[in-house]
Amino acid sequence: MQGNDHDFRFGRWPLCMQRGKKFHVSGYAEVSTRKKTFAEVQTERLDQAERTVLIKCPSKLNEKKLLQYLASHGNVKSHFFFENRGISALIEFSEKSSITSLQDAVGIPSASEHHVVPFKSRLFTFTLKNPVSQHVEETPLHLSPQSHIPVKDLIEKLCLADSISSQMYILLNEYQLTEENIRLRFLACSLVRDFARAYFPDSTVKPFGSSVNTFGKLGSDVDMFLDFRDTGRHATKMKKGPFEMEYQMKRLPSERLATQRILSVIGDCLDNFGPGCANVQKILNARCPLVKFSHQPTGFQCDLSVSNSIAIRSSELLYIYGCLDSRVRALVFTIRCWARVHGLTNSAPGTWITNFSLTMMVMFFLQRRSPPIIPTLDQLKELAGKHSCLCLLQLIFYCTFVLSKVINKPNLKERLYVLLGEFFEYFGNFDFRKNSINLRKGKEVNKPESSPLYIWNPFEQDLNISKNVNQPQLEKFIAMARESAWILQKEDKTQQMINKEPWGLAALLIPFGKNNSSKMKNRMKGIGSETIRSLLDSLKLNNASSQQKAVGK
Ligand code: GTP
Ligand code: MG
Repeated sequence: MQGNDHDFRFGRWPLCMQRGKKFHVSGYAEVSTRKKTFAEVQTERLDQAERTVLIKCPSKLNEKKLLQYLASHGNVKSHFFFENRGISALIEFSEKSSITSLQDAVGIPSASEHHVVPFKSRLFTFTLKNPVSQHVEETPLHLSPQSHIPVKDLIEKLCLADSISSQMYILLNEYQLTEENIRLRFLACSLVRDFARAYFPDSTVKPFGSSVNTFGKLGSDVDMFLDFRDTGRHATKMKKGPFEMEYQMKRLPSERLATQRILSVIGDCLDNFGPGCANVQKILNARCPLVKFSHQPTGFQCDLSVSNSIAIRSSELLYIYGCLDSRVRALVFTIRCWARVHGLTNSAPGTWITNFSLTMMVMFFLQRRSPPIIPTLDQLKELAGKHSCLCLLQLIFYCTFVLSKVINKPNLKERLYVLLGEFFEYFGNFDFRKNSINLRKGKEVNKPESSPLYIWNPFEQDLNISKNVNQPQLEKFIAMARESAWILQKEDKTQQMINKEPWGLAALLIPFGKNNSSKMKNRMKGIGSETIRSLLDSLKLNNASSQQKAVGK
């Protein structure tokens, strides 16, 4: 059933098409050639991260000398430099033993000003004993960028494109995670694992959410979870013998309490002993308890929780959808960027739509196309046959088969710019009062309760993933969608180019109030005075919430 690569229309892994040139999305390219499952990719990346160290370097550095020195401890398989509070180098050794050799050789900082906590991590500082006498290479170091270009620069780039569809691919290409950034994300998880292992030697720390679901943007947080799955497997194995023997373990009244205790201790550990772990906040009473911290050596904001199968499945499902068709990621990145620019999303938790909900709305819209662009969850499940949902991942390799079986005439032709306009039309006119969004069925179904926006959790029926969204925020989303649909319809690219005005996607990424508030006011009339009142309320709310402290997810 696997089909062959040349037959795959949908089965191609994320490919970007820019001015006729095809290229693989960094970080996923390696996967495409060898056809690995999501779990295999994760394991390989985590193994790579365990053979990796991070070195803070002086600004004037002789790259060759550094590599020569490191080579005395083992073969350096790959490396790159990046800027984050100075220059840092990520070094991947071929063997883990090279790290032990390096750790044995390096010194401990003198405790003249501060007392040091003697935890030997995989974070080092490299200094030149006598910088003046050391020859520094003429060629400057190549620094791998770890953040995307500012929106202002993006808009300039977009204006030079030849179509709205290529603008969307340019945005994707500028914002998506790079191979280097993915490596840094896995390294951050692996460094946290070093702490967790001090207590739980079998535990692992794995990334989930946008770091791995193909929708990650440079600058987004690293969601990671502590996994104790190995412990579970071990217990099952022992039961098979002619006798039973098990560990004596502490028993607690609930799983939630165990999670809270574990996270509390690991959080304290990171806070007290973790080099570069700052602003550690334990948010243990949230629905999903977590520890938030900034990991300064890699520059990431991190959220650590304990293994949550629903969140992992959501990441895997989005990974499948992101890999099915190159238009999926381009549309999601565009909508997420558009929502951010117009203040519909915010990195702090609040009453606005989250990126996760927004991504699910795009997926639902793609299921609703005629013919559909992605299958529903029920269709995927049916094809997975006897297997449980967890086996859905294997379907990634049978994408053509899946779609050709469930959809008679696959949607190959709808251009991206059409999808963008239709997305705004669809949600600008969606009956949110009556209907909810159900990705399992791929249908609009009656709302089971009165939340303004109801998106069924695909893996936990009767749970709404957008319960946090209030009426003013939803109204704001509808108004922006209508305005954007209108702008795209009235599009006159040639005239706008002559007038040197932003056109297409570029015009959608400029806050509407700035240039065309009077035009916007006219179109808002159609929504009714109640909507305008709630929009004003939402603006007030926005200000109040920006001062609100993070309270978890
Ligand atoms: P960005 O970080 O904004 O790039 O996107 P993200 O998808 O990583 O979102 P976020 O960091 O907020 O959440 C991480 C993951 O947690 C998501 O990908 C989901 O798997 C899960 N998640 C977040 N919010 C919810 C929610 O409301 N309900 C459920 N079931 N899962 C959620
Ligand atoms: Mg995230």
